[in-house]
Amino acid sequence: MSSAFLGGVRLQRISQVFEAEQRRYVEAHPRSLQRTGHGIAGFYGGVPMHWMRDWSMPFPFVVAAARDATLRDIDGNVYADFCLGDTGAMFGHSPPAVAEAVTRQAGQGLTYMLPTEDAIAVGRLLAERFGLPHWQVATTATDANRFALRVARAVTDRPKILVFNGCYHGTVDETFVRLSDGRAANRPGLLGQAFDLTQLARVVEFNDLEALRAALGHGDVACVITEPVMTNSCMVLPAPGFHAGLRRLTREAGTLLLIDETHTISTGPGGYTRAHGLEPDLFVLGKPVAGGVPASVWGFTEEVARRLDAVRAQAPPGHSGMGTTLSANALSLAAMRATLEKVMTSEAYRHMERLGGVLAAGLQAVIEEHRLPWHVVRVGARVEFVCAPGPLRNGTEAEAAHVPALERAIHLALLNRGCLIAPFHNMMLVCPATTDRQVDDLRSAFAEAAGELGES
Ligand SMILES: Cc1ncc(COP(=O)(O)O)c(C=O)c1O
Repeated sequence: MSSAFLGGVRLQRISQVFEAEQRRYVEAHPRSLQRTGHGIAGFYGGVPMHWMRDWSMPFPFVVAAARDATLRDIDGNVYADFCLGDTGAMFGHSPPAVAEAVTRQAGQGLTYMLPTEDAIAVGRLLAERFGLPHWQVATTATDANRFALRVARAVTDRPKILVFNGCYHGTVDETFVRLSDGRAANRPGLLGQAFDLTQLARVVEFNDLEALRAALGHGDVACVITEPVMTNSCMVLPAPGFHAGLRRLTREAGTLLLIDETHTISTGPGGYTRAHGLEPDLFVLGKPVAGGVPASVWGFTEEVARRLDAVRAQAPPGHSGMGTTLSANALSLAAMRATLEKVMTSEAYRHMERLGGVLAAGLQAVIEEHRLPWHVVRVGARVEFVCAPGPLRNGTEAEAAHVPALERAIHLALLNRGCLIAPFHNMMLVCPATTDRQVDDLRSAFAEAAGELGES
């Protein structure tokens, strides 16, 4: 009998549980099996977007409808949704104010490359909420990051950006670098990568101010781009003093600081930035900012705006390299206004913060009860269990803490018990409509999964 362990659980037991959960899933999804079991005709790989195949289930279920924090599939299964579109629906599915704004705008034209009354309101709302005076609207967080980095390079006249090892900021080419044996290297797995990304990027570990100081010392870094908490591998919190040091060192080096709040907007109405008094030069928020309608925003300081004006005054006429045709369309601005005015409220965040705390405490208690070498980490409404001891300090540790075979068995066990969590890591989001009952159901499902895995 195998005595190998993963994440403190016997390997053989993980396989047994996963196989049993797969059988249970197949039985509960006969209609979805018919529709997606052999791939959806017409789509390369059988799905409209390749990651729809990357969940723990043997084939994706087909969604019939979703509302608030609840999702229903075509077989009639009902799920408490803690994935929430991996943050795109962080404020719930079709919040009534957003649904109403989308319906209204749908009858008035969707895109015309000109501002609407909603755009006028959104400019004011963004400046008030996030404390930066200048904003632009794009369609994805990836785009917003790309455009903001272009501005950073333009105004500093420096070629490189700096990222923290293990980061993710969307499909922005030059952020696809990793530390490999202490040196920067292209991230493994990139397809069609025609040039060496390390020529444009430096990479150091999160929470390592000495390495950061050395990297900035070359004088060629236009911008540090970071999430305030690393959320895209296993979650890594900033060490005490890290953000103050980051800001001090970037200022000393003449390097701009871009804070990407796309995931950490789970912290509060003004993101982690406002909750912790950070002072970024550039700020990015995508995914849920328009309640699930594709949109993102990027903002910057008066100082960056002044420098950008000077650069633009000298630039020859031509394409700036920023912008996509449907960016800032009327539909996304209607949805964004509704989201900012009526959905991302302090009251909503109070609920999310409280229930996020309840969820984290509940999962931690299960881990302790089952004596598992795991931990729970949280940033506001974003909760994650990690199948390794914590806290984690950087991207290397976060990568090493992943246990894919164990995680997919847990994910599928939760799904079969009516709880959907994010597919690529163990992330759970609490939205304004999530109920105490749903959180308790997730805690129970997690306890059952831990019990199953612990059996010999
Ligand atoms: C921190 C962060 N920034 C940017 C992105 C990219 O968002 P999108 O895929 O909507 O472009 C992501 C996606 O997960 C993210 O986590």
